[in-house]
Amino acid sequence: MKKSKALLFIVLMLSVPLSAMAESLGNSIIIYFDYSENIVTDGLDVDAVSSASVAEGPGVRDIGNLLVMVDLIEQRSGAAIYPLHITEKYAPMYMDMVDGARADKENDRQFTFEESLPDLSDVDTVFFGSPIWWYDMPQPVVNFFQQVDLSGKRFMYFSINRGSGNSGVIERLKEFQPGLTVAAEYSLDAMQTNESAAEEFNAWLDSLSR
Ligand SMILES: Cc1cc2nc3c(=O)[nH]c(=O)nc-3n(C[C@H](O)[C@H](O)[C@H](O)COP(=O)(O)O)c2cc1C
Repeated sequence: MKKSKALLFIVLMLSVPLSAMAESLGNSIIIYFDYSENIVTDGLDVDAVSSASVAEGPGVRDIGNLLVMVDLIEQRSGAAIYPLHITEKYAPMYMDMVDGARADKENDRQFTFEESLPDLSDVDTVFFGSPIWWYDMPQPVVNFFQQVDLSGKRFMYFSINRGSGNSGVIERLKEFQPGLTVAAEYSLDAMQTNESAAEEFNAWLDSLSR
């Protein structure tokens, strides 16, 4: 199933109304880093290039579950969306870039982004989504946090993992954002269907409005 159809399917399946959540969040933005949006796709059939949670494991997945989470937050909160796109993309096949991502972290590589940084001056709530790489944030995410100031924002961190949960990410975040208060955090196990991921993540979103 193509990405757009898969998204529509999830929307219809869940038909989640905008909840009281939107009012309590104020002006909100979803900033996220997704592997499938940061790979070289020249000459490749994009639908054939899968992120890990699409390519393997039980059940059938149509899109990576990080994008399922982004989509649900957008539907329920009406938040603006700001994807992080690095200028020098990763290798298209997942296994080819695993060692490279570790070297990037060890060498404190400095990635640059295609878009200028978002203007957060009027933003009250920041949802930030990322995969967990090497028990940490991907290096482009580190670079992003080195360049913005999130102090005073209501900060909601969500990630996708394959076993290690959020690891030490929240503590690490504070290295770059000492004024940051994390209002809520969540990590989704990548190895599940889009539908079960959506159900699980919706329950977390519900808990934010209570
Ligand atoms: C370079 C790299 C390092 C990773 N390290 C971890 C890790 O430390 N802990 C973990 O649970 N998953 C790890 N993973 C798995 C990712 O969290 C997994 O790819 C992601 O949850 C699935 O998202 P995706 O479908 O967008 O790839 C790693 C993946 C990559 C590519």
